[in-house]
Amino acid sequence: RYEITQREARAEILPGVRTPLWTYEGTFPGPTIESRRGRPITVSHRNELPVPTAVHLHGGRTPAASDGYPTDLVLPEGWQEHSMHMGHGSGHGMHDPRAVVTELTRDYTFPLDQRPTLLWYHDHRMDFTAPAIWRGLAGLHIIRDDAEDSLGLPAGRRELPLMIADRAFAADGGLDYPSLDPTLRERPGVRGPYLAGVLGDVILVNGAPWPVHEVDAARYRLRILNASNARHYELEAVTDDGRRLDLVQIGADQGLLAAPVTHRLLPIAPAERYDVIIDFSGVPVGSRVRVVNRLGSGRTRDVMAFRVARNATDDSRIPRTLSNDLPTWRRADAVRLRDFSFRAGRMGGDHGWLIGGLPFDPARSDVTARLGDVEVWRLVADVHHPVHLHLVGFRVLSRGGRPPLPHDAGLKDTVSLRPGEGVEIITRFDGYRGRYLFHCHNAEHEDMGMMANLEIV
Ligand code: C2O
Ligand code: CU
Ligand code: CU
Repeated sequence: RYEITQREARAEILPGVRTPLWTYEGTFPGPTIESRRGRPITVSHRNELPVPTAVHLHGGRTPAASDGYPTDLVLPEGWQEHSMHMGHGSGHGMHDPRAVVTELTRDYTFPLDQRPTLLWYHDHRMDFTAPAIWRGLAGLHIIRDDAEDSLGLPAGRRELPLMIADRAFAADGGLDYPSLDPTLRERPGVRGPYLAGVLGDVILVNGAPWPVHEVDAARYRLRILNASNARHYELEAVTDDGRRLDLVQIGADQGLLAAPVTHRLLPIAPAERYDVIIDFSGVPVGSRVRVVNRLGSGRTRDVMAFRVARNATDDSRIPRTLSNDLPTWRRADAVRLRDFSFRAGRMGGDHGWLIGGLPFDPARSDVTARLGDVEVWRLVADVHHPVHLHLVGFRVLSRGGRPPLPHDAGLKDTVSLRPGEGVEIITRFDGYRGRYLFHCHNAEHEDMGMMANLEIV
């Protein structure tokens, strides 16, 4: 059992500046939860923030009641009176009376009956997810099991979870989110400039700007999460003498691959996770390895650096077979084929982002799938959209009419659609019945309507 208080706090992110944040337990990122596969936990969240929240465990196989549905709120003290004067006007179902739960504290229960992997928890409140995450409501959750522990992968100090997120800072040190002011946000057209999502010019890793981490000349396991609202990365690891190190991928969003896949350049879209081994043993002691984002420019090109501090022994290994429990669904197993377009469109008088031509409506039923059914979904995008399904993992069947790319390997819960591209995914709806979601994980797109209901019956 864990207890987490959501509260305002200040942290020194930039040297000498105190930045006001919304936090889980006073820190950004929030506390990392480590759990064991199949051992259920309860996380009790208490909301001391000035706004309602909803907590979602991203990548979790979670009963619907604890999945953090966007209108399933943990209310702050006194919100009822306050909200009557606010007059929400976003126009698409903020007040779905069926779903609104009014509590100051709420227990979320997670069975964690799923493959071990890196998950993350973050806010999921309707229409306000992007600013809430931006202000700090995100944390990591690692599930482990004995099988993975016995593989001999780099561990302990040599396993590093890396939450990468860009932020912008105002002159007074506060986080600069262009549409935090709700009165601005409700004015038609104001959303326009942020259609692509909100970007920052400071790259944070685990809450620190461009950190330099000291390492041994040995293998490390990097568990990378892109927790940015909208920024895409193409990561490479470059030594001082210009050599690019191999990024040996061992896992995807939903756990270990069948076998390692070696990359030189690793694309990572918002909410995706990559489990990667990097070997510093050939790097001269005293020199650096920079992690660079090839899609960035100027200071957003740098992400972080490793300084190789000392020679060391290394008894870790990367087994040739990592796991043999990956689902083997084939096209022929699918009982249904569905098509979804992810495109810009009009939402009332506003610009919005739509799935199948519609903005999110919690009262509408979009997809009804039968528990146990295998389905193939064809997803088509106008611009970059990282598409995420709650509850289930899926495999990428094809991309742009071709076989999947090397980084599409394994079991995923978020797939990056590139502009104009179609991607086919296959999944089996198992776990729990209930109301879930699928959506674009560009957090601004999600808030601007690019989300739909997935009902499992
Ligand atoms: Cu990471 Cu529906 O979210
Ligand atoms: Cu999720
Ligand atoms: Cu999108």
